[in-house]
Amino acid sequence: MALVMWMFTIISMLLSFSVMADESSRKLSLQTYLVRVNLPKGGALADPSDRKSWYQSFLSSSDRLVYSYRHVASGFAAKLSPEEAKEMEKIEGFVSARPQKRFSLHTTHTPNFLGLNMNMGVWNGTNYGEGVIIGVLDTGITPNHPSFDGADMPQPPAKWKGKCEFTGTACNNKLIGARNFIGGETGPPVDDEGHGTHTASTAAGNFVSGAGLFGMANGTAVGIAPRAHLAMYKVCAEACFETDILAAMDAAIDDGVDVLSLSLGGASVDFYADGIAIGAFAATQKGILVSASAGNAGPISSSLSNEAPWILTVGASTIDRNIVATAVLGNSAKYDGESLFQPSDFPSDKLLPLVDAGAGGNETAALCGPGALAELDVKGKIVLCQRGGGIARIDKGQTVKDAGGAAMILMNDELNAYNTIADPHVLPATHVSFDAGEKIRSYANSSSSPTASIIFKGTVIGNPLAPSVASFSSRGPNTASPGILKPDILGPGVSILAAWPVSVDNYTNEVAPFNMISGTSMSCPHLSGVAALLKSAHPDWSPAAIKSAIMTTATQANLGGKPIVDETSLPADIFAIGAGHVNPSSANDPGLLYDLQPEDYIPYLCGLNYTDEEVHAIVQEPVSCTNVTSIAEGQLNYPSMVVELPNDDSEQSFTRTVRNVGEGNSRYQSVIDFHGAAPIGISVDAELWFSDVNQTKTYQIHFFRHGDTNLTYAEGSLIWKSANRAVRMPISIKFV
Ligand SMILES: *[C@@H]1O[C@H](CO)[C@@H](O)[C@H](O)[C@H]1NC(C)=O
Ligand SMILES: *[C@@H]1O[C@H](CO)[C@@H](O)[C@H](O)[C@H]1NC(C)=O
Ligand SMILES: *[C@@H]1O[C@H](CO)[C@@H](O)[C@H](O)[C@H]1NC(C)=O
Ligand SMILES: *[C@@H]1O[C@H](CO)[C@@H](O)[C@H](O)[C@H]1NC(C)=O
Ligand SMILES: *[C@@H]1O[C@H](CO)[C@@H](O)[C@H](O)[C@H]1NC(C)=O
Ligand SMILES: *[C@@H]1O[C@H](CO)[C@@H](O)[C@H](O)[C@H]1NC(C)=O
Ligand SMILES: *[C@@H]1O[C@H](CO)[C@@H](O)[C@H](O)[C@H]1NC(C)=O
Ligand SMILES: *[C@@H]1O[C@H](CO)[C@@H](O)[C@H](O)[C@H]1NC(C)=O
Ligand SMILES: *[C@@H]1O[C@H](CO)[C@@H](O)[C@H](O)[C@H]1NC(C)=O
Repeated sequence: MALVMWMFTIISMLLSFSVMADESSRKLSLQTYLVRVNLPKGGALADPSDRKSWYQSFLSSSDRLVYSYRHVASGFAAKLSPEEAKEMEKIEGFVSARPQKRFSLHTTHTPNFLGLNMNMGVWNGTNYGEGVIIGVLDTGITPNHPSFDGADMPQPPAKWKGKCEFTGTACNNKLIGARNFIGGETGPPVDDEGHGTHTASTAAGNFVSGAGLFGMANGTAVGIAPRAHLAMYKVCAEACFETDILAAMDAAIDDGVDVLSLSLGGASVDFYADGIAIGAFAATQKGILVSASAGNAGPISSSLSNEAPWILTVGASTIDRNIVATAVLGNSAKYDGESLFQPSDFPSDKLLPLVDAGAGGNETAALCGPGALAELDVKGKIVLCQRGGGIARIDKGQTVKDAGGAAMILMNDELNAYNTIADPHVLPATHVSFDAGEKIRSYANSSSSPTASIIFKGTVIGNPLAPSVASFSSRGPNTASPGILKPDILGPGVSILAAWPVSVDNYTNEVAPFNMISGTSMSCPHLSGVAALLKSAHPDWSPAAIKSAIMTTATQANLGGKPIVDETSLPADIFAIGAGHVNPSSANDPGLLYDLQPEDYIPYLCGLNYTDEEVHAIVQEPVSCTNVTSIAEGQLNYPSMVVELPNDDSEQSFTRTVRNVGEGNSRYQSVIDFHGAAPIGISVDAELWFSDVNQTKTYQIHFFRHGDTNLTYAEGSLIWKSANRAVRMPISIKFV
């Protein structure tokens, strides 16, 4: 439960922040409300100042208006007391008002120091993302960082209307915009945290050669779309607030971004009550792809953020690099683990006495919290501690160090199983799996004088188990819309090196402008970068077309050619990997596309049984669902499919339309691929033939059930195969 406890810590930290904020404003007891209103009858209010005056007319005083929205809502943000909000209901044109929500960043752990080259293969074919603008909503940015050097960058496209709120030369042809949307704050969007600098450079950082850190892992650091432009919208400080996020999206739409990257989110909620979903819909209407992190609440089921079908929802996976530290026992057994702190002067060839802090079943001591080793003699010994209990992994090492221990073996908790992390420990240490930890404990218990040591092996590239699903990566099923499969895709999100304001090595006091952190916050900007590459190569593709290209070409195998595993080392399920792991070069040439236009979501939203008013809140135009032919979620032309099969002989049928973006005269054969024995029958056309480029074909797929089963779910795919392409749609089946 370590990770869950950790998340809880962050959440309670945010709550205590909000309590403080509330106290300071208690005199007025004002909160920021999100208010929706109708525009005056007959008045289009195209002019922003007319809109602002109309919004002001709902307020008692002009200093209450915080944001006046244009694209993302017909409405505004204002500081109100609950009484004032209630009073406002009487005003003609009022629709709704509610206090804004709070969201959090999707990162999981502390700063690390090590290096990595990112090198994706499709740069040539996509011109490195040239001409595309990625807007990043985050904690701000560190201007003048080498990753944001604009010297060799072309000018931004003529459509760009954004602003730079830094002074002097901080903005350039790489960082073309930088704005501050922290409610009430003015001044440049400086990144005091590091998160925004990291995510922005991951998406589109320029090449920085000699980026090695502290003498290790030398190489060139670079983002996924190195010729794309960046615009930072600062929306997060201690937390990220909904009205700020909406204001930033409103501005980004106006400014002319092509891709929006949001490494933040909240708990699942209906789309009409979710500021991110609403802002993302407005962006989608303007042809902007929105890539957002899936959340760090895994491996628990239904723990997703950002579930709307118009968002690209990104889970996190490991990369093929480990920072290996091997535990060696007195009985010669060896267990590979990880640590970023790899002291060269540690006497690895000398076995030290081994102490299991949890020997005799003392669960408090086992967790190595502060003072927990007081009753044990650990001086000069190597101590086995257990992950979890809400105690940070690095702090456990501090406990061992304070008690005079020489080294630590940190074993995983059962939930995180095989998912280990290379932390900058404060003493020689290794983080091993739960399985290895159990074996080490049993050796410690069974030997009269157990001993152990640690061998530091440095950076090892080529782990055949990569990519694997990170234990923290949030999982489906989708709560807000169970008929849409989420997450959509996996991208690298564990131990990612990217730009940072400044990292300090506490051992050498060296500083570096890079850091290594983990989270779906890190995987999201990888996909934002891939989307920028595709947009550069295919400017006419819609956001849904780009998503389709990414999803239908994803891979389900790891480097070893086996199915992608999760933290348990067993094959990951469809609710962990979605379509699979991103494969940028295949995505650039997908063959077929499942496309959607913004208006296609209206029958889907009506099919979710939202009221007309709720649909209106999302699509920003009056909708009468009785006048719309509603569709079930599964009928949306999405590149994945969720099927519910009742235990009767009814048939479930779905329609999909694909467009040929390969060559003319292309022939695709259907292949149904379901693993495991499930009592299902599936039928679909044997073949699709396209005489021309851009031709569309509509097909139906039918599912039926034959017999009882103890399974709750089955999973597989429909693949359209041509001579040189495979267009794969993942399918989840739920037996009801
Ligand atoms: C790079 O792209 C150009 C034009 O798109 C193409 O002619 C060339 O063959 C490509 N080079 C490589 C190495 O793929
Ligand atoms: C990495 O670069 C640093 C600084 O240039 C150098 O001192 C160090 O020896 C290099 N390390 C390796 C492993 O090449
Ligand atoms: C050590 O082994 C003994 C005997 O098998 C067992 O009773 C005890 O619970 C074990 N202690 C630990 C800490 O595993
Ligand atoms: C378990 O360890 C804690 C921390 O050292 C100690 O306070 C406590 O007395 C121990 N409990 C038992 C039953 O030994
Ligand atoms: C370095 O020390 C500072 C100050 O004590 C601390 O905040 C930071 O977490 C340390 N860094 C690492 C990587 O341990
Ligand atoms: C919407 O309501 C209809 C009729 O009650 C029901 O059949 C359908 O399952 C509902 N859809 C959702 C997504 O709840
Ligand atoms: C629904 O359609 C009917 C017939 O076209 C039209 O008269 C009515 O105004 C529409 N209702 C709404 C709410 O748009
Ligand atoms: C396909 O459609 C796109 C977008 O409408 C267009 O740019 C392209 O020229 C078309 N290609 C062919 C071969 O018709
Ligand atoms: C379901 O599980 C029960 C109990 O384990 C077993 O007896 C039965 O054969 C199973 N049914 C099927 C269809 O697998």
